[in-house]
Amino acid sequence: MNVGLLGLGTVGGGTLTVLRRNAAEITRRAGREIRVTMAAVRDLDKAKMYAAPDLKLIDDAYAIVDNPEIDIVVEMIGGESPAKELILRAIENGKHVVTANKALIANHGTEIFAAAQRKGVMVAFEAAVAGGIPIIKAIREGLTANRIEWIAGIINGTTNFILTEMRDKGADFADVLKEAQRLGYAEADPTFDVEGVDAAHKLTIMSAIAFGIPMQFDKAYMEGITKLTGDDVRYAEQLGYRIKLLGITKRTKNGIELRVHPALIPARRLIANVDGAMNAILVKGDAVGVTMYYGAGAGAEPTASSVVADLVDVTRMHTADPHSRVPHLAFQPDTLSDEPI
Ligand code: NDP
Ligand code: HSE
Repeated sequence: MNVGLLGLGTVGGGTLTVLRRNAAEITRRAGREIRVTMAAVRDLDKAKMYAAPDLKLIDDAYAIVDNPEIDIVVEMIGGESPAKELILRAIENGKHVVTANKALIANHGTEIFAAAQRKGVMVAFEAAVAGGIPIIKAIREGLTANRIEWIAGIINGTTNFILTEMRDKGADFADVLKEAQRLGYAEADPTFDVEGVDAAHKLTIMSAIAFGIPMQFDKAYMEGITKLTGDDVRYAEQLGYRIKLLGITKRTKNGIELRVHPALIPARRLIANVDGAMNAILVKGDAVGVTMYYGAGAGAEPTASSVVADLVDVTRMHTADPHSRVPHLAFQPDTLSDEPI
């Protein structure tokens, strides 16, 4: 499979590194070689460290999505534009797409999935939610027998890192945010992290997969951590609680609720002890009960782990007899309704 990468920043660089380091294992698991033949960035100088004789580095992303030799396009540039145009063009050209872009999927996923379905190509987005935790596969595949009742979790690494450093080191909000940016955890626009927007993007995606409803980012309630002070964090601790930014989606008698806001959690709870840039998600299914998923929610290689898993998945399904393909979506885009399943 010939793969073109759009972006070689934190996630793109991590993806190329993992693909190169674990090439033998990945080829064995995918059933054929996954070759990154092209990568696009804006500033070619910054990408020089990834140069190799078999990799063409370019500054025109359209040269990848329009290249007939490319089978899979991996979008890791972020933002809505030109990411959306590039993905739709790749789909139109018959290419499978892997993306880490939660803002794009939460806002335009339904349109993108419909386009992919029309062309018979796959769109995979495991890395868009909770970095290295395979939560999309868990909800879509592992829990597929269940009527999902609710999902709740810490789904933004940057804010969890900030709250942890404020609690443990009495660190200043702005200084810790800078550190999160240096470590590659934060979004290009970090207000998305600290105002709860990024968590709401991820919650929107999980909610759509779990309940079979369209992406409803505009219906999510969002409140971030910018109004919290060091005193709030310390007083909570003295009272036996931790403050965590939670994303919660659940069935109510009026429909599906989506909300992101800081919450006080008793310190003895497992989720209260999820620190740093780690994420943890609880999912309640009617058959299985409550399950919990924990791991690195941000950063280069944890996120690359999910991107590469999708690449392997898409390669396997592309190679399989088309009649035996597992549908890559949890629902058929043309049968979506506001009624949860
Ligand atoms: P970075 O800013 O580190 O990297 C972005 C990359 O995209 C850079 O290589 C940049 O090139 C390139 N780029 C931007 N615009 C263009 C364009 N028009 N054409 C070609 N290349 C372009 O971002 P991240 O890697 O952190 O994030 C990428 C995506 O992954 C985002 O959607 C983010 O939300 C998501 N994500 C990030 C995680 C993380 O931990 N960082 C975790 C999970 C998902 P140049 O440097 O030359 O400008
Ligand atoms: N900015 C995001 C976070 C990256 O901090 O969780 C991972 O999606």
